[in-house]
Amino acid sequence: MEISVVGSGYVGTTVAACLADLGHTVTNVDIDEGVVDSINAGEAPIHEPGLDELLAKHGGDRLRATTDYDAVRDTDLTFVALPTPSNEDGSIDLSIIGGGMESLGGALASKSDPHVVVVKSTVVPGSTETELEPAMRRAGAGENVHVAVNPEFQREGSAVEDYLNPDKLVVGTDSEYARETLAAVFEPLIERADSDPPLVETGLREAEMIKYANNTFLAAKISLINELGNICKEYDVDAYEVAEAIGLDDRIGEQFLQSGVGWGGSCFPKDTAALIAAAERAGYDPALLKAVVAVNDGQPGRMLGLAERHVDVEGSRVAVLGLAFKPGTDDIRHSRAIPLIEALRERGAEVVAYDPVAGENMRERFPDIEYADSAAAALDGAHLALVVTDWDEFTALDEEFDTMATPVVVDGRRIVGRRDGLTYEGLTW
Ligand code: UDX
Repeated sequence: MEISVVGSGYVGTTVAACLADLGHTVTNVDIDEGVVDSINAGEAPIHEPGLDELLAKHGGDRLRATTDYDAVRDTDLTFVALPTPSNEDGSIDLSIIGGGMESLGGALASKSDPHVVVVKSTVVPGSTETELEPAMRRAGAGENVHVAVNPEFQREGSAVEDYLNPDKLVVGTDSEYARETLAAVFEPLIERADSDPPLVETGLREAEMIKYANNTFLAAKISLINELGNICKEYDVDAYEVAEAIGLDDRIGEQFLQSGVGWGGSCFPKDTAALIAAAERAGYDPALLKAVVAVNDGQPGRMLGLAERHVDVEGSRVAVLGLAFKPGTDDIRHSRAIPLIEALRERGAEVVAYDPVAGENMRERFPDIEYADSAAAALDGAHLALVVTDWDEFTALDEEFDTMATPVVVDGRRIVGRRDGLTYEGLTW
């Protein structure tokens, strides 16, 4: 099929590259000329495992990019993968995607053949029906243009693999034509996937809500195990032993039970805040979701509290190990390292930070702290080490701890292997 993808950010680029690999002809539309040139040259504009290979194979060939919205007219279907950032109060900001829908409407105004526009971005329930579709229609899109919602559940670091092997395909639409066209788009994916992903056919609002429910459920699962873990710590109970046992109950499941310093990234914090704001706007007080955020916000403080049982943070040299929001990425968005570094500075500590790949990104956020180029260098002379990201290399740290001024380690991810000869505190164990 001829497919267009509007937006070549993290989701748009992986989706476009995967669709090309599945045999479709894909046009990526983006306002950023640098990104467009890079795709046409067969180079991935973002880092994701497997994406370089897909771009090298299809970029400039079956996958092309352009800054011209009119290119969508020559395609059968358009996925819209534009950013939906947060407003100051946490509510969703639809201005970018709204503008994109308007441009799309203008481009499709002169088309008479049927066309499907699929919202892939995360938007709160009702957005497509009450804001995005009307924006597109006002700009000229006619009755021949059908609308659907198809949320994406990719994780950073495995976005290509997740797209090609999804747990489910969610299609929300009131249009039979859109449903059939999307089924044709997914046919090669279903054929290639390791196991048949269930197709969930639903309405526009339900599809929008499924994305929020999925993400907030997972964030809540982590916050619940973190709260249970905090209680475990107070009673000298190992939360990981508890988690292993409860995970054996199929109704609970073993995944996302790693307690520690909490969740970050581009999705969980933004989506939880947006759903809370949407609920409040509708007159409902989402008490549990607010608590999910409150527990997460409290974890860095718990870490510092444990540290202060052993060292006076004021005036101490503190090594922060791990700056990325999770291992395998240089993304620091909502990383737990950010509130930790802020709190350390407020308390008058001298911070030395290390991350295998995220140091440069954190330097933009905190230009004034010291950055070490290895964990060993960060630990040398430090009075305290705080382990924030579960990078594998931290498991192997051993004699590096012997160079600390006082070997106090607070582990926020249960990743440090050595325990002997250290004042070691696990956050929830
Ligand atoms: C998440 C969702 O998993 C994905 O489906 C959605 O499309 C986007 O948001 P991502 O943000 O890439 O993906 O990261 P994920 O691997 O889910 O981890 C999120 C955060 O939770 C990380 O900060 C991670 O460290 C933390 N986490 C995860 C825990 O603290 N404990 C766990 O058991 C699992």
